[in-house]
Amino acid sequence: MSITILSIESSCDDTSAAILRDGEVLSNCVANQDAHRLYGGVVPEVASRAHQINIIPVVSLAIQKAGIDKREIDAIAFTRGPGLIGSLLVGVSFAKAYALSLGIPLIEVNHMQAHVLAHFAEPPYPSFPFLCLTVSGGHTQFVLVRDYLDMEVIGQSLDDAAGEAFDKTGKLLGLDYPAGPLIDKLAQQGQPIFDFPEPQIPGLGFSFSGLKTSILYFLRQEKEKNPYFIEENLPDICASVQERIVSILMNKLIRAAEQTGIREIAIAGGVSANSALRARLEQLGREKGWRTYIPSFEFCTDNAGMIAVAGYYKYLKGEFVGQEVEPLARWKG
Ligand code: KG4
Ligand code: ZN
Repeated sequence: MSITILSIESSCDDTSAAILRDGEVLSNCVANQDAHRLYGGVVPEVASRAHQINIIPVVSLAIQKAGIDKREIDAIAFTRGPGLIGSLLVGVSFAKAYALSLGIPLIEVNHMQAHVLAHFAEPPYPSFPFLCLTVSGGHTQFVLVRDYLDMEVIGQSLDDAAGEAFDKTGKLLGLDYPAGPLIDKLAQQGQPIFDFPEPQIPGLGFSFSGLKTSILYFLRQEKEKNPYFIEENLPDICASVQERIVSILMNKLIRAAEQTGIREIAIAGGVSANSALRARLEQLGREKGWRTYIPSFEFCTDNAGMIAVAGYYKYLKGEFVGQEVEPLARWKG
């Protein structure tokens, strides 16, 4: 019997809907919210309102692009958390109402688990157990993945996430939000000639807030000597910051691989779209004899395709939730 899932993702500032049939993503539509660019970060109230505007057109588009009829949908998977409560509320309420009107079950999905399961949206698939470094705007964590729905966080950031380090640096440099992709692009024209310190955090933990402070002091000091320092050195500053973030992540990844003895290594989340991180992981994989897995760009940043994949495996296990379900801003899963 064929299984068709509609999925909804609205945890932050992207409204997304996808259709998956028997494990294959037939459509994966995302409406980005440009308004946050003006404010230098996501404004929760603005995000929530934009989700309300976007959700019906995005779901219609996903159904249309998949070439199916809404009556063919067997279940609706939705992001229950973690995320911004006002944003989640829009997706959860829509999913509940649509499931009720179609008479089909609901499947709750943890956003962070879904980032990991994005690896099963298209081949090549990692084999279990694998180690996933999930790097997004809100989280930086090592996940030991034993099975589709059996995961354990074995290390994480004590403060800022890697994506936040990119975005906050971008703010200091006068770049638009989200700055990660812009820093990536600018870094390609520069050299990592400025040295920022690598924090010494024990075990598999991370810390990125010290890096942000050292960048702030460095820029302040240089601007006192030359008010045009940023404008004149932007590509080199970006290359240097990116180099440090990537080296922090990769040095810990080497440790995590040694500690667990796992050689199936994956990266996931928005920051895994970073070209330097992708290149460094591939290089490390060759050096260390790891098999590495990097999602295509579509499945790195927030998207409903990954929510549908998670929903599919939960469907197979019969893990449904009732209409009383509510969003969770914090959810360890
Ligand atoms: O996974 P995601 O789309 O949303 C969250 O769940 O947080 O990740 C968004 C983060 C942002 O911080 C953004 O700047 C970063 O991913 N990002 C990148 C790149 N593309 C997105 N960071 C560095 N380089 C990129 N190419
Ligand atoms: Zn995310």
